[in-house]
Amino acid sequence: MSKKKEKKEKVITVGDVDFKVLFGGLLPQISDEEYQRLKASIKEMGVLVPVLTDEDRGIIDGKHRLQAAAELKLKTVPFNILHGLDYQAKKHLAIKLNAQRRHMTKDERLALATGLRKDGLSYRQIADLLNVHHETVRRQLGGVANATGESPDKVVGKDGKEYAAKVICKPKTRTNAKNVGEVKRVFDVSDTIDPTDLPKGTIDVKRIERIGRQVEINKKRSLEYEDLKVGNAKLMVGDFRKRCSEIPDSSVDLCFTDPLYEKDALPVWGDLAEMCATKLKPGGILMAYSGVLYLPQIHQMLGEHLTYLWTAAIYHSGRSKLVRAVHIHQAWKPVLVYVKPPLRKYWHPFYDMVSGGQEKDHHHYEQAVGEAVHYIKALCPKNSVLLDPMCGSGTSIVAALEADIGVTAIGCEVDKAAYATAEIRIKETIERLRKKN
Ligand SMILES: C[S@@+](CC[C@H](N)C(=O)[O-])C[C@H]1O[C@@H](n2cnc3c(N)ncnc32)[C@H](O)[C@@H]1O
Repeated sequence: MSKKKEKKEKVITVGDVDFKVLFGGLLPQISDEEYQRLKASIKEMGVLVPVLTDEDRGIIDGKHRLQAAAELKLKTVPFNILHGLDYQAKKHLAIKLNAQRRHMTKDERLALATGLRKDGLSYRQIADLLNVHHETVRRQLGGVANATGESPDKVVGKDGKEYAAKVICKPKTRTNAKNVGEVKRVFDVSDTIDPTDLPKGTIDVKRIERIGRQVEINKKRSLEYEDLKVGNAKLMVGDFRKRCSEIPDSSVDLCFTDPLYEKDALPVWGDLAEMCATKLKPGGILMAYSGVLYLPQIHQMLGEHLTYLWTAAIYHSGRSKLVRAVHIHQAWKPVLVYVKPPLRKYWHPFYDMVSGGQEKDHHHYEQAVGEAVHYIKALCPKNSVLLDPMCGSGTSIVAALEADIGVTAIGCEVDKAAYATAEIRIKETIERLRKKN
């Protein structure tokens, strides 16, 4: 952690995050002696009260705690990021918290009260913020005019009763962050999220990142996409049951794909087998990742159009997934191998099991590139055509390019968000390989 003198620049830099001090001149300054006492206490016990920020790097409360933590190079500082507060609400919250916590002289309170009155607040609202009785405020402010004259001392509640007017400075959503690394992640993702779309209450960093990802996905889904043709890759947007009719019959060497495994998605396996029976070359291969639960149904559908050859496998080393329906920890995944007759055995012997990595940056059901490269190298003759009709984020197409054996790779994807990701990955892969060669 490093620091800049906050007093001069109104910025506190921690790691690579610049925090803006929002209300530096508003509240009475603490003396050097008080600051040193605070710093000594933080050195001994750490920061116990979270630093409050808005979602835009602004410190609402806790600049001294953050400054001290920065000077002490503390790694763990708790933060609460408050979403969707307007400037007035942040300012009122800063005043309310300081009035509750800090000792202020009568003059300091009066100066704050006067400022608030000029902002248009009623005596009761000022009293609520400064934690004093409203008659005290009335007495002290005497002749200070309310600049707007619009703030009533009482408001009518939903139940029709009259209540003392209060200032609302409580956020609908707050995110807890444990350190500057986490707070930076919250700031980054908050740029893309409308605070009104956040849930009510307290959430953590992972939750807001999930919400951010969903916002990005929805944005991508609302756009229109065109097919992509770049290098040896072609990407089609749409339902493969329609789009694959554009591929010449008997032209595909390997259909390498990863359909959805859920019960509702089962019919797609029949459509896949039917399409393969038309588009694969005689002797061509379908290789499809599959779940285990519905294997009998899947085999039946594939077997109606193609001939069973083998079951290869991905071994999930070091991790497993609990399949609740059967109370079994699944540590492997089948990869079903079917052939469009006649069987030609054109490949060299290859191992049928690879150890799978976990890659989920691009798609919820993403598969690892490495395992796909293994099978593609084994089953794609030179200069052959590979098709993935449900290519998700484009893993198989990326793998076909990485395999670097002159494969023409055709992908198809119905979900526009996944398509958009595949498009980016493919372009990046081609660019990376171009630089390498
Ligand atoms: C299990 S995911 C594939 C993930 C992929 N292996 C990866 O690494 O990103 C299955 C994909 O098939 C797509 N899909 C399902 N039905 C489809 C259809 N009829 N036409 C095209 N794509 C389809 C889904 O949108 C989903 O992205």
